[in-house]
Amino acid sequence: MSDTGFEKARKLLEEIKSYVIDNEQALESFRIEFVGAKSSIKSLFGEIKNIPDDKKKEFGQFLNEIKNEAERRFEEEKSKFASSSSKSKSDEIDLSRPADKVKLGARHPISIVSNRIIEIFTKLGFAVAEDREIEDDWHNFTSMNTPEDHPARDMQDTFYLKDSVDRLLRTHTSSVQSRVMTSVKPPIRIIAPGRVYRNETISSRSHAQFHQVEGLYIDEGVSFADLKQTLLYFAQEMYGKDTKIRLRPSYFPFTEPSAEMDVYWGLKDEIDYRITKGTGWLEILGCGMVDPNVLKNCDIDPEKYSGFAFGMGIERQCMLKYRIDDIRSFFENDIRFLEQFKPVF
Ligand code: DAH
Repeated sequence: MSDTGFEKARKLLEEIKSYVIDNEQALESFRIEFVGAKSSIKSLFGEIKNIPDDKKKEFGQFLNEIKNEAERRFEEEKSKFASSSSKSKSDEIDLSRPADKVKLGARHPISIVSNRIIEIFTKLGFAVAEDREIEDDWHNFTSMNTPEDHPARDMQDTFYLKDSVDRLLRTHTSSVQSRVMTSVKPPIRIIAPGRVYRNETISSRSHAQFHQVEGLYIDEGVSFADLKQTLLYFAQEMYGKDTKIRLRPSYFPFTEPSAEMDVYWGLKDEIDYRITKGTGWLEILGCGMVDPNVLKNCDIDPEKYSGFAFGMGIERQCMLKYRIDDIRSFFENDIRFLEQFKPVF
């Protein structure tokens, strides 16, 4: 009988020591089983009466040790959970808190203006055509009726790729004209935005890289009147319904006749005087009727088809629209500059 009591007590001690407590629920089960008012230790105390008198004291002490061990283990495990549960409380997600502010980026002003230009021409049925920035001489110059000795081909103006006389960084988006005309048949109505490069000294007014948008319309019976009407529509969408335009005769190798388009900017203040050189008119783009030689170079029959083309710089229009006075700002990635163009809701 006495063995049974000691035996039970020993088993109980083993159980207390090896009890797996890995969560708060297990801790609570441990408490009920070994520490609480109805613990199995308490019921073992009932065994004392079956223990021989000379062993009663020893048995009693043993049970006390087991009781202490159970309490000690309980406190120890409890403190572990207390510290980890207080940590998890601070990590808890509070769904009622206001959300973190989303940091809205800003569109680059060049993209804003370029997208606006594209939007206007898309309404007229022009499709966006993008092409490579590394071009060959033929697409950039020869096909565009630019004679071999034209100053634009000068090493001063064109960035040629190392050890190459044929591969260059395109100097204008007009190269997309011949890319398109040699790959699709008329009618052609495209708008080509993109980056261009020229070997120029960088200053507040000029840069070695900038952006252009090219337009090209080829079909049967396209006239200069179509060109003028298209550009008037563009100018009034871009600069306001009452905007006036004028076309001045000019020269480009790839158009005949050629013109430059000015919009009337006004002469209200000193800045207007400065940027329009006292005339009130601002030059916006170059344009003209596609030279028959260009059509021939691209295997399009000039007897059947005619077309117009135009090209404009984006930086300049952007500088006018936002009154930016240094072209270098567009390429410096200064966050203080770029932040100003955040969308306003
Ligand atoms: N490619 C010319 C330039 O970079 C701009 C230009 C003028 C484009 C007349 C045209 C055009 O398509 O018809 O200065």
